[in-house]
Amino acid sequence: MTGVGRGSGKLILCGEHAVVYGHPAIAFAVDRGTSVDVVARPGPTTLDADADDARLLGALHTVVPRDGWAVKVRTDLPIGRGMGSSAALAVGLVRALAAARGESPDDAAVEDAAMPLERAFHGNPSGLDVALSARGGISKYRRGPPRSLEQLPVPGWTVVVLDSGEAGNTADLVAGVAARRPGVDRALERIGALVGDAEAALGDAAALGPVLDENHALLREIGVSTPRIDELVAIAKRAGAHGAKLSGAGGGGVVLALTPSGRGATFLSHLRDLGIEAWECRPWTRT
Ligand code: MEV
Repeated sequence: MTGVGRGSGKLILCGEHAVVYGHPAIAFAVDRGTSVDVVARPGPTTLDADADDARLLGALHTVVPRDGWAVKVRTDLPIGRGMGSSAALAVGLVRALAAARGESPDDAAVEDAAMPLERAFHGNPSGLDVALSARGGISKYRRGPPRSLEQLPVPGWTVVVLDSGEAGNTADLVAGVAARRPGVDRALERIGALVGDAEAALGDAAALGPVLDENHALLREIGVSTPRIDELVAIAKRAGAHGAKLSGAGGGGVVLALTPSGRGATFLSHLRDLGIEAWECRPWTRT
């Protein structure tokens, strides 16, 4: 029995951290992800992964039996950078095992089966990453109850992702925000309200930019940015981005910059001249 599965990475456009407390967030799946191959064979389950993460094997067993499988994982997502690498792994794994067993679970069943692995990595995840990884597209998500997931029209823009080179620990960052409540509740509420503005401006990158800038200022206020992330946001803005913010849990990770249409390549070469690892990303939709 063999099976192959894939989960995509994601970027959060607006609303990270606030989404953990029931506010909405908008996120989109990206054209990078994680592929998983599984082969049934006797003996203890083995893992061949290109990412060196000590938590991986333990987390794997929330989804894969301890015996009977050889698992191979390949990804082009940066690990621990807020791009949903653990959710992409979980979704890829669930789909690969289902394929090997001859099952075809729907997206909701894939999400349910993937959540234990996401919890093993992140403690109290909102479920946003897994939802986007399983479904693709761009969505407004609310953890609930009641949980809601609304697919939005896919905008025409692409974003440039700037990598800080620093990995954040999502579980620690979410716990840090929890410890700063209720002092940060006003900022979390404002982030939730900004998601409505982001949805209204979704098709207009110039109008969306200031919403992202304010979202970043609020993420700083709740204590999840870093000096390097703030520096990358400032560089992106000076280079002409409509808006820029950290995306994901923070503590490092990546900055998402919304660039004027047709300017992505110039913007990228400027960043690379400054020695910044950066690439273009577009929302990924299932065909
Ligand atoms: C993680 O990608 C985003 C957070 O909002 C946590 C979560 O939603 O589970 C920080």
